[in-house]
Amino acid sequence: MAESVAFSKTADRSIIYREITPQIEALIADESDVIANLANVAAVLKEAFGFFWVGFYLKKNDQLVLGPFQGPLACTRIDFDKGVCGHAYSTASTVIVSNVDEFPGHIACSSAAKSEIVVPIMDDDGVFGVLDVDSDRLDDFSDADRTGLENIVGVIERVIRSHTNSDKIE
Ligand code: SME
Repeated sequence: MAESVAFSKTADRSIIYREITPQIEALIADESDVIANLANVAAVLKEAFGFFWVGFYLKKNDQLVLGPFQGPLACTRIDFDKGVCGHAYSTASTVIVSNVDEFPGHIACSSAAKSEIVVPIMDDDGVFGVLDVDSDRLDDFSDADRTGLENIVGVIERVIRSHTNSDKIE
């Protein structure tokens, strides 16, 4: 397994997304443990972009529950109809919020968080969880982040599916 990821020192996030996505795929493809994989994805995103907070909330019964993350401590449980994460969960689509204070129902885990992007992760049963990235700057996320993070979530979804299917075959 690779011990580190290589990426350009550039402010152009789309270049960095392009560089790290195949490395993330190589990092997680052969590991069947979802939590281990999500932990490494959070670590790579933190290292590559220095995001204020990056991590996962996973569907457990009727709530989203905190999963692997990098950054300050965070709320542990989010109802499906609450916050930006709940909105991404219930609409099954990516949400970008340029100013979290203007988002009705935003859950302020940290007063330093100013903008946010949340990408849903799908499995064969629907939304499996969400990837949540918070910035301490207003309006910090663009379509480049949407595309880059959705591609990374696509990799995660494929790896989850491939191991679920091989578990079924074994
Ligand atoms: N702000 C999120 C809650 C999660 S924390 O940001 C880590 C929300 O409103 O969904």
